[in-house]
This record gives sequence, C-alpha cells and structure tokens, in this order.
Amino acid sequence: MPRSVRRLLACATAGLLWTGALGAVAVTANVAATATPAAALDNGLARTPPMGFNDWNAFGCDVSEQLIEQTADYLVSSGLKSDGYTYVNIDDCWMTHTRDAQGRLVPDPAKFPDGIKGTADYVHAKGLKLGIYEDAGTATCAGYPGSLGHETTDAQSFADWGVDYLKYDNCNNQSDGTRADYLKRYTAMRDALAATGRPIVYSLCEWGDQDPAEWAGDIGNSWRTTGDISDNWSSMLSITQANLPLAGAAGPGHWNDPDMLEVGNGGMTDTEYRSHFSLWSMMDSPLLIGTDLRKATPATLAILGNKDVIALDQDPLGAQATVASSDGGTYVITKQLAGGDRAVALFNSTDQPQHISTTATAAGLPKRAAYAVRDLWAHKDYNSAGTLSATVPAHGTVLLRVDASVLAGVGSLLDPVLADTGTTGGPDHVEPGQSATLDTYATNLGALPAAQVTVRLTAPDGWTAKAAGSTRAALLAPGRRLTTPWKVTVPDGTAPGTYPLTGTVSYDKPGGGTATVPLTGGLTVKVPPPAGTSYLSDLAWTSSSNGWGPVEKDTSNGETAAGDGNPITIGGTVYAKGLGVNAPATITYYLGGSCSQLTATVGVDDEKNGKGTVEFEVDADGKQVADSGVLKNSDGPKPLAADVTGAQDVQLVVTDGGDGNDSDHADWANAQVTCS
Ligand code: GLA
Repeated sequence: MPRSVRRLLACATAGLLWTGALGAVAVTANVAATATPAAALDNGLARTPPMGFNDWNAFGCDVSEQLIEQTADYLVSSGLKSDGYTYVNIDDCWMTHTRDAQGRLVPDPAKFPDGIKGTADYVHAKGLKLGIYEDAGTATCAGYPGSLGHETTDAQSFADWGVDYLKYDNCNNQSDGTRADYLKRYTAMRDALAATGRPIVYSLCEWGDQDPAEWAGDIGNSWRTTGDISDNWSSMLSITQANLPLAGAAGPGHWNDPDMLEVGNGGMTDTEYRSHFSLWSMMDSPLLIGTDLRKATPATLAILGNKDVIALDQDPLGAQATVASSDGGTYVITKQLAGGDRAVALFNSTDQPQHISTTATAAGLPKRAAYAVRDLWAHKDYNSAGTLSATVPAHGTVLLRVDASVLAGVGSLLDPVLADTGTTGGPDHVEPGQSATLDTYATNLGALPAAQVTVRLTAPDGWTAKAAGSTRAALLAPGRRLTTPWKVTVPDGTAPGTYPLTGTVSYDKPGGGTATVPLTGGLTVKVPPPAGTSYLSDLAWTSSSNGWGPVEKDTSNGETAAGDGNPITIGGTVYAKGLGVNAPATITYYLGGSCSQLTATVGVDDEKNGKGTVEFEVDADGKQVADSGVLKNSDGPKPLAADVTGAQDVQLVVTDGGDGNDSDHADWANAQVTCS
C-alpha cells in the first residue's frame, strides 16, 4: 500500500535524524563535564519543541505534588505520554516565602510533602521528566523568592532535585530596561545550569519584552515571544499574529514560545481549539498542555492527541511555518517538513466561513501530476492535481500534509479525489419568513474523474432547503464543478445570527465504496426592530465590540464579566434603560430600512469619580448622523438625536475623546429607535 510505503520512508528519515540528535547529546555531555560556562547554549536538548504539561493556565497558584503526580499518572494512562508529552512542569507558587539558612529555596512542605526531589522521583519513575519555575528578578510574579543573584545556588538545587526543565520568568527584575540587562540576567542562569552538568531545558519567559527572537537562541532552548495567553479567541489570535513573523529564529534546540496551550479550558469552541493546536504545531511551539487533564473531555483529548498534527510540531527539520499568503483575515501557512513533505494550513480568522485556496507549487512543492494529500483533522487521504482549497468555517483551520514524491502521487490515485465544496451566491442576510437562493458547489481537485457525485444540503431545524437543480453528476472530470441552486426558507420567529448550512458531497472511491466529505456554508439572519419605539437594550444587536468586558444592557460597564455593572448614572441622574460601554466601543444594529429616528441621553458614568473623556457618534450605513462632541463626566447628560431614515444598519460608536482609554465608562442612557 502506498500509505505504508510513505510511512516506512518517513520512519527511515526520522531514524537518521534521530541518530544525529543523539550525537549532539553525547557531545554536550562532554562539554558539561568540563564545567566551563558555555559561551552559547549548547545543551543538546529540545531538538524538537518540548512537549508536556504546565499547571499555570488551569490552576494558577494552586499547584501541589498531588496534582503533578496525578497528571503524570494520567499522561501515562491516557496514552499522551506515548504521543510525546514528556515534561510535567510546576509553575509559580511551589516554594515558601523565605530561603533556608544556607540561602537555598525551600519547597512548600504543605504543597509538596516529598519536596521537589520526591516529586521528581515519582515523575521519573513514570518515564517522564519534571519541570520547575523561577524568576530572573528579586521575586517571582506571585511574590516568592526570585533567583536574581542566587543563580548558582538555585541551579544547583534544581540539579540536586532532579529537575529537567526550567521556566525562567521576568517579574520584579530590577532592570534598567536595556537589552544588555536582559542578556546578563538570562545568561547568568544559563551558565549556572550548564555548570551543574545536569541536562536542563532552559525556557526563557520575558514576554517578548526585548524581542528575544533576535538574541535568545544562544541563551535558551525557547523564549516566550508575547505576554500571557488567556483562554479566548482574540488572545490566541493576537499571539499567533505576533509569533508567525519570527519563523527565522526557530530551529532544533531553540524555539519561539507563544505560551502554553489553552485547549480544553472552555473559553473557546472546539473549532477554535483545533485552530490553536494547528497553529502552535505549525509554528514549532512548545506543546505544554494547560488544562486539568483529569477532567478533560474526549474532544479535548482528541485535539491534544492528534498524532498527525503533533508530527508537524515534532518534525525533525524544525522549520517553523511561514505565511505564504493572506487576505482579509484568511491565511495560507506552509511548513517545510523533513523528507520533502509540506504542511499547509488554510486558516480562517474571520467570523464568517471563507473560501481559502492555494496550490502545491505555491506551498513550495515541485510540479507533479498528482499529490498525496492527508487531511490531518479529518484523518483522511486524498489525491490532488495541485489545487488545495476549502471552505473553512469561521475561526477554523483545514490542515493538510502534502507529499510530492512520485511514488506517493501514484499511490494516491487509489485514494478519493480531493473535493472543494461550499456555498456561493447567497444574499448578505435574510429576515425571518423570507427565502434565500444560493448555490452549492463541489469541485473535483483530484487528478482523476469522480463518479456518482451527489450533493446534500441540510438547513437548521424548522427551515427548509429545496434543490432547484440537479444534485447529481454521473462523472465529474478533474477541475470540473457541480453547481446546484437551492431555495432556503427561514421560518418566522428565527432569532438573529449566522446559521450553519451544512451538507455532504459523496462520490465513488476508486477501489470501491463511497467517499463523503462535508460541505460548509452559512446564512445570516437579521431581524429589524418592531414597529413603534423600542429601547435598544431590549433588541438584539448584530455585533458589538468594547474596550473592557462586554457591552452591558441597562447597566454601566463593569470592565470584566457580563452583568458586573452598576445602575446607569450620569450627573446624579439614574436611568433604568440604556447601554453601558467602555471606549473604544461599537455596537451595530440592523434596521432594515424601516426606522426613522434614534435618540439617547449620553454621558460619562459617575462611577469613575469624575474621570473619563469620550465622544459619542451614530453612523447610519457608514455615514455619521450624530456626534456628541468630546464629553467629560462634569458635562452631565446630553441629549443626542439621529435621523436614521432608510438606513439598513446603524452603529453606535464611542471613542476615547482623543486622550487614551482611561476610566472611559460611557452610557447610552434611554437609547431608543422609532420604526414603522
Ligand atoms: C508570568 C508568566 C506566566 C506565569 C505567571 C506565574 O505571568 O508569564 O506564564 O508563569 O507569571 O506567576
């Protein structure tokens, strides 16, 4: 079978490179034995990005020996250890607040009754490795003793305890803010670790402050490139965007670190977590699980345990992926792999499904008549004549591994053809009770014809989707497309939002049987306000963005969680209705051309004790129709009225008034719209 031939070749290649890595380890052992501080990091470690677990993202300061040992047990029993997860890492808060009489760090006896040594012994007995946390300052971020000036003593403690990995943070650093100071502090620990003679992976955590990708390759095995990740889409996306351009700095033994994984922590959808894991693997990031594994769902484990994706991260070539092309929030990201394959990520950072397309040659592969393509999330093999494209769901990633060897290309002719499926030509939106016409399509991207092609489309419950043309093609030649028109009806009472239109395309497999691939589309439903005058806080907006926390209905903005605001109060007057925001904020409502006037009483909320400067604007279909001018809290409430006659959409915008975003709690009190 061609697939097994491919695997054999891949194993042989990996074996050769592995011998190389072992060679490097042996050399380093000699260097360390001389106890001469290394002039550059040459510890032979982390030839592929470190994989394992760290407690911080899920537990914060709540770390303990029990948690570390249970996690070690779970890594073994779940099979994650055999997938490559090796380091079980303790983050901040493991020690007591004072050093001992000899100046040594003291593990908290309540949290670690057997000390770090006992914990390391336990972890080692499972065939795993132990990591620890310290700080290149006078105190850790949580206020425990830091290692600045104690590097030799602390490195020796770590080595004596059997520590295999050190994350070295940057709080309380007493720095003069120069790069020279960063180099000095981080080099001091590198040399102290080297002098112990114990192989210890050295992970710098200075949050990208001094652009460590430019200098840390000689100092650490990895370096954080950004501030801390949090468990939400925008955090993950902005870190990705900061880390992608740093590919040139990464390679075996020295990696960019975009921070630990949030997969499984609940703040993102599984689609988003698959993107997170795909991107981290494409970027050769350390893969440090940051969730409570003892409670992990099957979906979380399926993401963290995806061997095909892990193989990209752990590819022995160690070439971090680069952006081949990007357009309006869609990205084609490609990664060179040992043995000649390329990984291609079609990444959609936008809020709508997007068609993303590239070719094998654009991804850096030679021209061939057929390529073997594996979809690493669908776990399926296809053949392609060169085009690689898909409709990618909002926030999703299609991750492909493309093999351009002639043998694999010939072998792939026994696999089904790669199909590009989706919807096209639909309206921007529909209102409840209306119908939309749109087309589904299925394009044969393979090198052979596809036989018995059948398209199905499923609409949400209560909707109808009726084909207005043929849903079948007896034979679809390479490069040809089956287009089917559909009429989709949205029932009365449907809430606003973007709804999935999902379907399938099935066709004969070359060797018998049927291949079925998903078809992804969507339809946006917008609901105009009812006739009469309505409070905007009683209507559903189309979208909202806000400086801190979410936009609040009928309260001020409390800056963090939904519902944490106070009664809207401007100049001593309390308003029962309205919208509470924090600049910069934009709220969009759909009016559908049926409204005439929008009114509100605007002002800076009293709750920030007189602070805050903002400006309120109303835009109708992109044109400004009201402007409050710059307002301070002392200006009190100000009436605002906007003519929105005929507008499809209206936006309520609050800016920072030109002086930065400080205490900018802005209220749209009594915001109302009048419609017919
Ligand atoms: C910093 C680091 C985090 C974590 C905490 C612990 O914020 O960047 O990853 O280690 O300190 O206090």
